Amino acid sequence: MDYKDFGLVNTREMFASALAHHYAIPAFNFYNMETLAAIISAARDTHSPVILAVSESALKYMGDDLLRGMIWGLNLKKYDNVALHLDHGSSLESCARAIKLGFSSVMIDGSKLPFDANIELARTVADLAHKYDVTTEAELGTLAGIEDENTHATTSSYTNPNDVVNFVNATNIDSLAIAIGTSHGAYKRKSDDEELRFDILDAIAEQLPNFPLVLHGASSIPQHFVQTINEYGGKMSNARGIAPEQLRRATQKNICKINVDSDSRLAFTAGVRETLATKPENFNPRDYLGLGRKNIYDNCVDEIRNIMGSDNKIK
Ligand code: G3H
Ligand code: 13P
Ligand code: ZN
Repeated sequence: MDYKDFGLVNTREMFASALAHHYAIPAFNFYNMETLAAIISAARDTHSPVILAVSESALKYMGDDLLRGMIWGLNLKKYDNVALHLDHGSSLESCARAIKLGFSSVMIDGSKLPFDANIELARTVADLAHKYDVTTEAELGTLAGIEDENTHATTSSYTNPNDVVNFVNATNIDSLAIAIGTSHGAYKRKSDDEELRFDILDAIAEQLPNFPLVLHGASSIPQHFVQTINEYGGKMSNARGIAPEQLRRATQKNICKINVDSDSRLAFTAGVRETLATKPENFNPRDYLGLGRKNIYDNCVDEIRNIMGSDNKIK
């Protein structure tokens, strides 16, 4: 199925506009009706473009048909500016499968491969994707933290600015994920004043002045959700994210896509825990899932406005 039949767009024009006007497109992960509905409503209500990100494990969880049914049910029009993106694709086969399913953008994550093998894999995927007008993201450098069932990165290495031009030219990819100190999950920093490596970001942006860069592991870990989770029986001590002002600063330096998953997980969990704890007699899933969904919506609206700067960018 062609992604255009779903009313989806690829990321090319989104990124060109984000680069020109110094904001970032939010890439929010989803895995069920509640998360998808919250994200799409937040994007529509703020008139923001959005990338709906699906990891391989989330795709397995939803199943191909249910996923496509839900995307179909969004009744998208091209002007909605919504891309469907495979997050951390682990192989050519996985990306090919996503393209066939109707994804408009794929990430091939060869970041743990040797440099030449990463190039080879990314180029093969980009060649295939471009035949279908699908855009491709690849990654140089590795983030710390568990990303996916398939990608258990535990140590990090910053992206080397000297490698990026070769990598982009040799692969023909459309955007590049870089490692400048972010990490996946809810435990990103030991203290609030740890800074991202803006010196590395500056050096990369200097090498690739007009090229879209991507920040993974960019959740800000809102503390009110952590507190609610802990208040109602959770155990999440020292959960800490990337400060919103640092993310905003990154959008001024060619970061055109900011990936957020953990914040939505926290928002949802806080809503479910709060409802179950404060209404112990309630056994209606629509009530506790409903507050989870509302929390994700509120947080996406907030991040679109105050981190991404992508509100009111749909003409
Ligand atoms: O960066 C990866 C996402 O957070 C995906 O995680 O495979 O558990 O859905 P997941
Ligand atoms: P977080 O764990 O910081 O939300 O990162 C999500 C991500 O990078 C998805 O690819
Ligand atoms: Zn990621």
